[in-house]
Amino acid sequence: MSNDRYLTFALGKGRLANKTMDLLEQIGISCEEMKDKDSRKLIFVNEDLKLKFFLSKGPDVPTYVEYGAADIGVVGRDTVLEENRNVYEVLDLGFGKCRMCVCGPASAADLLLHHERIKVASKYPRIAREYFYEKKHQTVDIIKLNGSVELGPIVNLTDVIVDIVETGSTLRENGLTVLEEVCPLSARMIVNPVSMQMEGERIRDIVSKLKNII
Ligand code: PRP
Repeated sequence: MSNDRYLTFALGKGRLANKTMDLLEQIGISCEEMKDKDSRKLIFVNEDLKLKFFLSKGPDVPTYVEYGAADIGVVGRDTVLEENRNVYEVLDLGFGKCRMCVCGPASAADLLLHHERIKVASKYPRIAREYFYEKKHQTVDIIKLNGSVELGPIVNLTDVIVDIVETGSTLRENGLTVLEEVCPLSARMIVNPVSMQMEGERIRDIVSKLKNII
C-alpha cells in the first residue's frame, strides 16, 4: 500500500504556515510537534497519518516541490508565478488575499500610457517582465530589489514598482498609489507531478476535503 510512504508538505514559514495548519486541522490533519513555539526543529512528523511537514522560506517551497523533496507545498501565488517551477497548482486556499500591482506616484500614470522606456523596481522581476513585455508590449528596465520596494520611486531609483498591495497603507504612507493591477493573489497548494501519479488518491482526498471547507 502506498500509505506506508510519508506524504511530505513544504510550508512557507510564518502566517501562511499557521493558517495552513489551521485549515488542515479542520479536516483532521494535525501535527502536535509543530505547536511548540520554542522548538527550533525544521521538520515535524505525524506518525499515525504518515505525514511530514517542514517550514522553509516561501520562494524555496516550489523548489522543494519540483524536485520531489516535498509532495505538496503551500505558498503565495506571487511565489508560484515568480519561481515558475514544474509543479501542479491544485487549489486556491482562499487566504492571504492581496493584489500584485504597478504602483508609483500619481504623476507616473502617464508613463504607462505611451510605451515609454521606464524603470521598474520589483522583488518579482519575472512577473514584472511578463506584465510589461507580454501584456503591455512596453519595453522597460527592471531592477530587482529584495524588499521595501516602495523606496524605488521615492529615492528616484525607478519610475514605478511592481509589488504586493494588501491594505494599501504602505503606499499611502509613502505618497504612492496603485496605477494598474497585474493580478489577484492568494495562498495556493502546489503538487509535484510525480507525487500526483504515485500518491494521487491521498492527495486528491486531502484536496477534496479542503475544497469542502473553503
Ligand atoms: C509587503 C509588500 C508591501 C506591503 C503591502 O511587504 O511588499 O510593501 O507588504 O502591504 P500593505 O498594502 O498592507 O501595506 P512586506 O511587509 O512583506 O515586506 P518587504 O517590503 O520587506 O517585502
